[in-house]
Amino acid sequence: MKYAVLGAAGQLGRDLCPRLAGEVVPLTRADADLTRRGSLRDLLDGLRPDVVINCAAYNLVDRAEDEPDAAFAVNAWAVRELAVACNERGTVLVHFSTDHVFGLDAARRTPYAEDDPPGPVSVYGLSKLSGEYLVRALCPRHFVVRTCGLYGARGSGGKGGNFVETMLRLAGERRSLPVVSDQVCTPTSTVDLASAVVSLLATGTYGLYHVTNAGACSWHEFARMIFELEGIEVDLTAISTAAFGAKARRPAYSVLGATAYRRLGLPTLRSWQEALAAYLAERRLRR
Ligand SMILES: NC(=O)c1ccc[n+]([C@@H]2O[C@H](COP(=O)([O-])OP(=O)(O)OC[C@H]3O[C@@H](n4cnc5c(N)ncnc54)[C@H](OP(=O)(O)O)[C@@H]3O)[C@@H](O)[C@H]2O)c1
Repeated sequence: MKYAVLGAAGQLGRDLCPRLAGEVVPLTRADADLTRRGSLRDLLDGLRPDVVINCAAYNLVDRAEDEPDAAFAVNAWAVRELAVACNERGTVLVHFSTDHVFGLDAARRTPYAEDDPPGPVSVYGLSKLSGEYLVRALCPRHFVVRTCGLYGARGSGGKGGNFVETMLRLAGERRSLPVVSDQVCTPTSTVDLASAVVSLLATGTYGLYHVTNAGACSWHEFARMIFELEGIEVDLTAISTAAFGAKARRPAYSVLGATAYRRLGLPTLRSWQEALAAYLAERRLRR
């Protein structure tokens, strides 16, 4: 099996490539810029992969509010071109989406199933939902995987790290640390997501899937657990989304239930607490 992985230098791409069995062609933005129109067809003709895995994305949630064209260029229009090119060549397309396709239902407090109607509240969420629909409409041999709150050893380039690293850095810089407590989701390890995606691909059962670590927490609870596991004393305060004042709206509750994934008989991922503990243990070894 030959895999072409777009966005291979991102935090998910980095953890996914070494877990794929077969020939893997990792493609960074320098190798394949998704916004270079027409280039994806040539790329596929040159490489002739069996499977394309698209880990590339525009994921600057706040900045997207000011530059919707840039977000849609990567998350929707390039994905459309990719979906058409894959379909024409009989190539399987694996694409990643986000819990930010939800949020419009402000009263929601139970995990979303894959067939729950989406409703984004931000440009980023809308651009990612558009990408999902384009893949599902144009390339029947697809896996669309929605996930949430990713953190991996490499960190997200565009975001300058990940939430765990940001918290640990800020704890060393500030006396008090305000973290949002009214957004609940499931932070997810890219290592765990990568392994789950490998298992999912092996089933050959195309479709839309939710894949995250198990459980749910607010960002404040997640931060508290980071400091607890690292034995760091910090004055952590809970603040509201409104007080934090980010540019983009975010879902108040966006826990993804892995209904379709579990229906395939695949095991539930470990809890977010266990995944975080493993990330921090591995981080200590790296330092
Ligand atoms: N991060 C999260 O919390 C989160 C949550 C839910 C879902 N997701 C989704 O999960 C997937 C993986 O996310 P991630 O956290 O691994 O992202 P990431 O670390 O930010 O990696 C994204 C990669 O995409 C590349 N990229 C951006 N624009 C590109 C373009 N025009 N052409 C080619 N490559 C381009 C980036 O390259 P540069 O480094 O050169 O910019 C980067 O290597 C994405 O679909 C994302 O939307 C992420």
